[in-house]
Amino acid sequence: MSKFFAVLFLALSILLVGEVQHVLTIDFSQQGPEIPETLHGIFFEDINHAVDGGLYVELVRNRSFEQETRRYEGWRIERGNSVKSSIEETHPLNENNTRYLEVRFSETDRATLTNLGYGGIAVFQGQEYIFSTYLSGDFTGTITTMIVDDDEVLASGSILLYQPVGDWRKYTLNLIPTKTSTDTRLSISIQGSGTLRIDMVSLMPKRNWNGMREDLLEMLEGLKPGFMRFPGGCLVQGNTLENAYRWKESIGPVEQRKTKWNFWGYYQTLGIGFYEYLLLCEKLGAEPVPIFNPGISFQIESPEYASEEELKEWIQDVLDFLEFANGATDTYWGSIRASLGHPEPFNVKYVGVGNENWGPKYWENFEKFRKAIKERYPDVKIVFSGPPSYEGTDFRQAWRWAKENNVEIFDEHIYASPEWMLANTDRYNRYDRNGPKVMLGEYAAHTDGRRNNWWAALAEAAFLTGVVKNSDVVIMASYAPLFNRVGWSQWVPDLIWFDGYRVFGTPSYYVQKVFAENRGDVVVHSELTDEEYRMFGYRYKHLYHVVTYDEKSRELIVKVINPWPEDRTVQVNIKGITVEETGREITLAGDPKDENSFDELKIVPKERIITGLNNSFEYTFKAQTVTVLRLKVKE
Ligand code: AHR
Repeated sequence: MSKFFAVLFLALSILLVGEVQHVLTIDFSQQGPEIPETLHGIFFEDINHAVDGGLYVELVRNRSFEQETRRYEGWRIERGNSVKSSIEETHPLNENNTRYLEVRFSETDRATLTNLGYGGIAVFQGQEYIFSTYLSGDFTGTITTMIVDDDEVLASGSILLYQPVGDWRKYTLNLIPTKTSTDTRLSISIQGSGTLRIDMVSLMPKRNWNGMREDLLEMLEGLKPGFMRFPGGCLVQGNTLENAYRWKESIGPVEQRKTKWNFWGYYQTLGIGFYEYLLLCEKLGAEPVPIFNPGISFQIESPEYASEEELKEWIQDVLDFLEFANGATDTYWGSIRASLGHPEPFNVKYVGVGNENWGPKYWENFEKFRKAIKERYPDVKIVFSGPPSYEGTDFRQAWRWAKENNVEIFDEHIYASPEWMLANTDRYNRYDRNGPKVMLGEYAAHTDGRRNNWWAALAEAAFLTGVVKNSDVVIMASYAPLFNRVGWSQWVPDLIWFDGYRVFGTPSYYVQKVFAENRGDVVVHSELTDEEYRMFGYRYKHLYHVVTYDEKSRELIVKVINPWPEDRTVQVNIKGITVEETGREITLAGDPKDENSFDELKIVPKERIITGLNNSFEYTFKAQTVTVLRLKVKE
């Protein structure tokens, strides 16, 4: 925030401290809209190593040597004089995993393979790690696998191969490090003779949930998401149709999944694929909102359009997915789901067609997808993609088409400045109540320098008050992107930052968490006296607020955002019910420049009991805070 704001508000605060500046009138007898359980969700895309090097527990980078470019990425190979090695594909492990490392010993000798993971592998003392690899060839000898910290071996195990290895076979070792280290390497020492083919070299903590890192999973659980949008984002589109995401490549045994070039500039294993995604949604209690390619690659820069014939395949992919997710176990894809361990259907209710697509060609394709999906799955709701912009000609044309063609849900993406967000909290007041619903599938406040600071989060919180008030129109909203592996990211700001062994939530994370945990079931009518003012072309309020009611806990939930450097005192008057004397207060507070880090969480929710409440009380909302008051309603 500029110095100008700071000085202006400081001056105002000196004049106004102690006085009641606003009246908040809450009328319990006037309620609506009901707030859908889906409202606050997660957008999960493998960007910033969110999956590979992130939520997916695999610690080895480039485990299957499939990469078209940067073939040895993650690996260092030291060889004795008589040893040669290369990446080959004449004896593939399977048709999706064709490349492997071949090490040839012309006499008994030694070679060492080292993998550094994503800038050093973190391991914990006493935890069990499973090393596994596929081997083939006529090699005889010993393979010793070690977890090494500098020169200290923290764990080791050997595979003794007295007989020639023969055809591809999986070998595993259990390794338990003797100490915790955040910066180890996996070292594989091979001593013997003959030819050894190596593929799918893996190291994973034994304790994991469906291949997911526990600490990152906990962060997702903390968000209490109502839905989860996956796998993208631009990942859905691909740089070309060739590398666009195809769900069928992401299920089944991991060694049979295709390692693919990821739109965001690295290779992905698809180790967390569509099946794990559905399991994750189930665990989190989130409605899956899978997004599918509409037969168009990255429309902004490299649009490639599927031919009429190809488009049928893309459409069939969606139909097959729905059979996979929802079909009976005697259907082809339903039986595959059952064979993976989930005979019960997942009951997927939404699918999205496209990400940041627009214009007549997209609309034509969308129509074809919709027709085919509705014919077989009339109850599945289809999300229509908006363009990358959230205003302007493309955006308006997309909305016109969506309305004229009875689109059910329109996916909007808003990456805007905090100032824009503060000035547009009433955006959805103006939306047609009878038109398409909105999925705000991606949004974030982008400060100058794109910092994940409190100023950005305050603006997001203010914007969300408008979203909640309009949750008859906006039925889903998800911050984007979700994860950032520090040092391995392509995009900031993000919701959750992590490295190999630590994780922290940004201020935006805690805003999302506080809003999701204090959602309420219905909006309660409220009015706050405020004087709007204009500055630098934007229209601001002093406070932003929304009031909801949680039927189960019988609590009125008052959220007030004060983004400015001045405390504001509000006279709260409640009509239509009686509130108890004691309630709860949850606050997030800080300096606008504050950021969280591994070492310090400056912005985290603080909760306390407040007393002395009744149907009319005064409350001071401190400068630069998000406040939630939970007021118990008397029987
Ligand atoms: O969230 C990051 C990217 O932003 C998404 O992949 C894309 O949809 C948007 O442009």
